[in-house]
Amino acid sequence: MATDAVPVPLLAVEDLRVVADDNEILRGVTFEIAPGEVHALMGPNGAGKSTLANVLLGHPGYRVTGGAIRVKGEDVTTWPTEVRGKAGMFLAFQHPEALSGVSVTQFLRQAMSARRGTEVSVLEVRLAMTEWMERLGMDPAFGERYLNEGFSGGERKRNEILQMALLDPEVAVLDETDSGLDVDALKVVGSGVRTVRELRPAMGVLVVTHYQRILVDLIPDRVHLMVDGRIAESGGAELAARIEAGGYDAWRAR
Ligand SMILES: Nc1ncnc2c1ncn2[C@@H]1O[C@H](COP(=O)(O)OP(=O)(O)OP(=O)(O)O)[C@@H](O)[C@H]1O
Ligand SMILES: [Mg+2]
Repeated sequence: MATDAVPVPLLAVEDLRVVADDNEILRGVTFEIAPGEVHALMGPNGAGKSTLANVLLGHPGYRVTGGAIRVKGEDVTTWPTEVRGKAGMFLAFQHPEALSGVSVTQFLRQAMSARRGTEVSVLEVRLAMTEWMERLGMDPAFGERYLNEGFSGGERKRNEILQMALLDPEVAVLDETDSGLDVDALKVVGSGVRTVRELRPAMGVLVVTHYQRILVDLIPDRVHLMVDGRIAESGGAELAARIEAGGYDAWRAR
């Protein structure tokens, strides 16, 4: 029946309201990501960007008090994180800070198995890793490294991008706000996502960033400016350039 209808968005956020610790942090957030689109979310510190990223993936520390999150039309608002993961939602900053003694390869095998809901063999993981590391220009020795042990900012980002590539998500959320990344690490993210999109053109991406630098490699179809828990303005890539040039003052004063 839906053949000639408007295509269903990959991700739809509808008048989303979120509370943490009795404070309303998101106060009615609405936007839609169509298949293949890259959206950037920008905004001053404390605007609610990471809260949105967390809530999209079902972080238990937040309470949704209104609105809905839909993936391909299905209301996932109350779904637990792992079910969202299986359904193809991916959160890049979700890599386990606390895991030590786990190699990148072991970690990725666990993550792939969880996504598919069935055990993935070591051989399959290695083959997929070899393929993707070559595409992404990564050193094969990286797979033998232990997670987070002495990882530089750039290596953490490589791990995240590799994870994203292997998990083959429908929609990826990348929160690049507060990780103190240098220019090279930003490049890993921007060009890494671009490479993955070349092979997975339908993947949707929401990238949270303060830096227009990421958006050089990853040109956004839409840019949303969040101020005080609301989207104050949405526009094309030129909005990111305006923010970079003039800061957030013009919107804060309103
Ligand atoms: N779990 C929580 N409990 C209570 N308050 C929270 C929680 N998470 C976020 N907040 C508050 O919500 C507001 C928005 O925080 P959030 O981290 O989403 O901002 P942000 O836009 O990501 O900022 P930044 O650019 O610094 O990363 C802040 O005032 C923050 O203190
Ligand atoms: Mg943040």
